[in-house]
Amino acid sequence: MRQPSAELFPTDSPVPAGQLIGREDDVEQIVAAMAAGTHLILAGPRRTGKTSVCEAALTRLHAQGLYTAEIDLFRIADAAELAETLAVKVVENRSGARQALLKARRMGRGALTVAQGAVALKMKTQLGDGVELAFTPGLAQSDPAKALDRALELPQRIAEADGKRLVLFFDEFQEIAGPRRAYGDPDAVTKRMRAIFQRSTHVSYLFAGSIEHVMRDLFAPSQRAFSGFGSFHALHEIPPDAWREGLRERFAADECTVEPAALERLVGLGEGHPRATMRIAQQTHLAAVQLGTHAIGADEVELGHRAALQGDVPIMEQLVETIRRLHKAALPMARSIAEGLPPPRHVPVGVRDRVLKQLRDAGVVERVSHGHWKVINPLFREYLVQFDPI
Ligand SMILES: Nc1ncnc2c1ncn2[C@@H]1O[C@H](COP(=O)(O)OP(=O)(O)OP(=O)(O)O)[C@@H](O)[C@H]1O
Ligand SMILES: [Mg+2]
Repeated sequence: MRQPSAELFPTDSPVPAGQLIGREDDVEQIVAAMAAGTHLILAGPRRTGKTSVCEAALTRLHAQGLYTAEIDLFRIADAAELAETLAVKVVENRSGARQALLKARRMGRGALTVAQGAVALKMKTQLGDGVELAFTPGLAQSDPAKALDRALELPQRIAEADGKRLVLFFDEFQEIAGPRRAYGDPDAVTKRMRAIFQRSTHVSYLFAGSIEHVMRDLFAPSQRAFSGFGSFHALHEIPPDAWREGLRERFAADECTVEPAALERLVGLGEGHPRATMRIAQQTHLAAVQLGTHAIGADEVELGHRAALQGDVPIMEQLVETIRRLHKAALPMARSIAEGLPPPRHVPVGVRDRVLKQLRDAGVVERVSHGHWKVINPLFREYLVQFDPI
């Protein structure tokens, strides 16, 4: 039995802490900042490893005895759900509360044993009404804004009562200010959050988001609610030798050996982009499985590279659609960047800067040096060059 390629090289979900390649320094720095009671913001392009790194840091902090809670706003529809989820995740940190909580949420308060009922009651007296949001599914819906306030205050209350530090990780935090206005008027919500967070001296906040300019906008300008709250942490590059080492280890988990030149080629093709590198490695492994071999050479890598590109075509087509909608010059600009050429001559000079900024905000390109841009995802760059979408 061979190990499944997608388990050795996951590409559609955060990487489990034990499988993280490189990024040890990032995890350490985040752990240190959280333990010290400071706040951090990770804003970066999609699929570069923000969630993986933050989750690894949380796992470590939890092992050190800190309370932790993770909230992914992509999964949360509205203010009521945010309040309830937050309350549950925070309360779960209390030993003894988890079982009672599961049971009460599944079968109602009446199903609790006397001891579990006592746990719940004690928490409510000690920590206030916010606890009730966790024990009673749907309760938050009657007054979502008020419920959210209570839930946001809960981390500090529980941390203070238990003499602990609590680390609260909000993933995809830009959703707070998103056009959905899912959690209420963004200005009002962020102001209330800031006021509560500022008083929460036992809580360290970790924010991640993939729409970089919205994140920067939320935390940087002086008139926004979160200005000056926390500092930005930019993820470090994963150096080529960390990739070589990490990928070799992953292949070895399925008793595969990789020829040095093939490994070099694989790492080169991924250009340090985490998801692209993992995707090529995953497809390379799959090719080896299909060929019935445990020896990875140049042929397997070539097959894997081609399959990675081909398999991502639907995602790339979607991205091309998004680019088309930005501006009529956006796709021609992206293509010339992909080919390493100057912008097409028919695009007026005044339009170029604006379109570049739009492409950057959409997470498609980044500036390497003055006047020099590149397509972030190497597979997308190849797609633009080879498939020539118009
Ligand atoms: N340190 C790493 N080691 C190995 N693979 C990684 C690493 N970081 C990221 N990846 C790859 O990138 C993919 C995306 O990782 P992750 O979900 O953590 O990124 P993200 O920046 O949070 O993405 P999104 O913007 O979609 O939320 C993973 O499935 C994995 O293939
Ligand atoms: Mg993520």
